[in-house]
Amino acid sequence: MKRRILLELGLSSLGGVLLSDCVQGQRLPPSIVSPNLTKNYTSQGGLLDINVEAYYNWVTLGGKPANLMTYNGQVPGPKLEAKPGDTIRIRLRNNLTQPTNLHYHGLHIAPTGNADNIFLSIPPKEQLTYEFTLPKDHPSGTFWYHPHRHGFTAEQLFAGLAGLFIVRGELDEIPQIKAAKEEFLVLQDFGLDNNGNQLIPHHRDQMIGREGSLVTLNGQVNPTLSIPRGGLLRLRLLNASPSRFYRLSLENHPLYLIATDGGSIAEPVELPELLLTPGERADVLIKGDREPQQYRLLNLPYDRFGMGMMGGGMMGGGMMGGGMMGGRFNRNTRQVETLATLVYQGSTSPLPLPKQLLPVEPLPEPKFSRSIELSSTMMRGMGMAFLFNGQPYDHERIDTQVKINTVEDWELINRDRMGMEHPFHLHINPFQIISRNGQPEPYVAWKDVVLVRPGEPLKIRIHFKDFVGKTVYHCHIFDHEDLGMMATIQMTA
Ligand code: C2O
Ligand code: CU
Ligand code: CU
Repeated sequence: MKRRILLELGLSSLGGVLLSDCVQGQRLPPSIVSPNLTKNYTSQGGLLDINVEAYYNWVTLGGKPANLMTYNGQVPGPKLEAKPGDTIRIRLRNNLTQPTNLHYHGLHIAPTGNADNIFLSIPPKEQLTYEFTLPKDHPSGTFWYHPHRHGFTAEQLFAGLAGLFIVRGELDEIPQIKAAKEEFLVLQDFGLDNNGNQLIPHHRDQMIGREGSLVTLNGQVNPTLSIPRGGLLRLRLLNASPSRFYRLSLENHPLYLIATDGGSIAEPVELPELLLTPGERADVLIKGDREPQQYRLLNLPYDRFGMGMMGGGMMGGGMMGGGMMGGRFNRNTRQVETLATLVYQGSTSPLPLPKQLLPVEPLPEPKFSRSIELSSTMMRGMGMAFLFNGQPYDHERIDTQVKINTVEDWELINRDRMGMEHPFHLHINPFQIISRNGQPEPYVAWKDVVLVRPGEPLKIRIHFKDFVGKTVYHCHIFDHEDLGMMATIQMTA
């Protein structure tokens, strides 16, 4: 099977490399490493029909060999593009040594059958065909796919399994956006040893989740991007890291947000910087109107413990030594990192920002509201557990029952005693943020991940529609999800 796929990709000469020599149980990097393949797929005549194989492969990360989990041999996985109304058929073959599956993050499709059914599991050496049709009125936007096999998700995401799923549509037809230069940026971090093998155990931290020291954009370290002089650059960003936060800023250039997780906002919003937590996407425009020199896309330091560490939260815990906490604290108050370098290239006739994007209707007042508490606890001898409403995930329990064709408000309250921030994510139905800590949200946007900070209750509004069945909401720090911060929601007619 591996051989067949490699032949298809024209990499038959690498066939032997996959079974490369072992020295004391460690695979050595081969002398030939496949380049980062950039094979992408676009639907044709209303159909996207592809084979995807998950398997370990040697790829290059920032010029160095790395042995990672790949989709069709590449990291990130192939970018998939489709239009509203298209049918998607993906034959996923699992050539890993552990079970896996696929989740279509952010797509509004059925959570059942062979669509976005995260309860399916594909054992090693087996294959499953996913098939679904995007609703005709599906918003255009930046979505993505990744494994969602409970207990393995963090490991597989950290090993490289993630790819973009782009829905092309109305937003792309706005003249200024159409004329902009478009770049996709998948942000991933990896922890590798000197031989290019993963160091997952050393990087695992139950509170922070796993973070690696090698930060990549599309598998590259500090790539160079070009801005057309006078024109617009459109960056479509995805945080595909299992737990790393990115606080992005481009030297001398504000970012103009045009779309969030679920698609277009009504008009561009100027941002000096952008926090992208795991799973979030942002679509931003950059004006090429500065001195034509080099500008760095920076990742600014961000302290994920924030006030929680300083407040009383720690005091009751009593199980963490001060030194240990200090180490963790430092790891997250990092230096400024350069993620990419932007250079001015060519020139175009001046291209203004679009004034209007697509209208976004605020959801009507709900008939029903509920609150969900996020917390963590120390289990004696077992480390941390992360909880929704006091309970860890149990696949046999239904935690939340909703009716379709209704609107609900959910108040998300983070009472994490360790002061951890949690990016909350809901499948299938996007939501609008109504308020954070009592402050109304300044503009209406469709989201599917939102950061819930300790001590800052956050209200989201959700319209459940179109699809019945079971799915989940969870923390998008997948170590937290694997340690319990997930719950089952059942949608009924
Ligand atoms: Cu991107 Cu349930 O996840
Ligand atoms: Cu998701
Ligand atoms: Cu979390």
